[in-house]
Amino acid sequence: MDLSTELIDWYQQNKRDLPWRNTTDAYLIWLSEIILQQTRVEQGMPYYYRFAEKYPTVSHFAKAPEDDILKLWQGLGYYSRGRNMLKTAQLVQQQYNGVFPTTYQELIKLKGIGEYTAAAISSFSANEPRAVVDGNVYRVLARFFGIDEPINSPKGKKLFQQLADEALNRQHPALHNQAMMEFGAMLCKPRNPACGICPVRLGCVAFASNATTALPVKLKT
Ligand code: ADE
Repeated sequence: MDLSTELIDWYQQNKRDLPWRNTTDAYLIWLSEIILQQTRVEQGMPYYYRFAEKYPTVSHFAKAPEDDILKLWQGLGYYSRGRNMLKTAQLVQQQYNGVFPTTYQELIKLKGIGEYTAAAISSFSANEPRAVVDGNVYRVLARFFGIDEPINSPKGKKLFQQLADEALNRQHPALHNQAMMEFGAMLCKPRNPACGICPVRLGCVAFASNATTALPVKLKT
């Protein structure tokens, strides 16, 4: 069974219609990904709509006074995210003429954009073959392949990045990444995973050994 093929099939039939999934605009994808860091989809959605309406392009965003950004950010917490966004928008306006970069190599240089966000934006906006690794992806991979290496040890991080890279569907990176995240969020949940309706349970090591809720392993820090 090919994990990616099955999950993409499942995703296309079951996905939530989320606004940032209907665009390849790197700026709007960046906006959604920064808002969704440490914020649930239901909570982040109204913020995404407000920002996208008030600042439809990165040029609009770059010209905003910081106080306006922080006011619109109110309730999301971690205000450094909002401040970093303004700095990044201004840099994109000046150095990239207001054209938001879409390559991983350019994105990773920007303030507030780490490996996860660079992989998300480059794959969703330009189908660059970069595997995203977030909490959902750790969980899906740990369970399906039966990996009990801690996800937050140096060895574990390396191992899971390798697994994610190998699992990546190189023909459809954007679909693959969305499918992995959606499957982790909707079926392969931290508690009470929906194994009864899971499309890949017959290939899942954790399902076969009754270990779903024991995985992934995370070291207390
Ligand atoms: N959380 C972070 N990024 C997401 C995305 N693209 N879709 C759904 N949930 C997300």
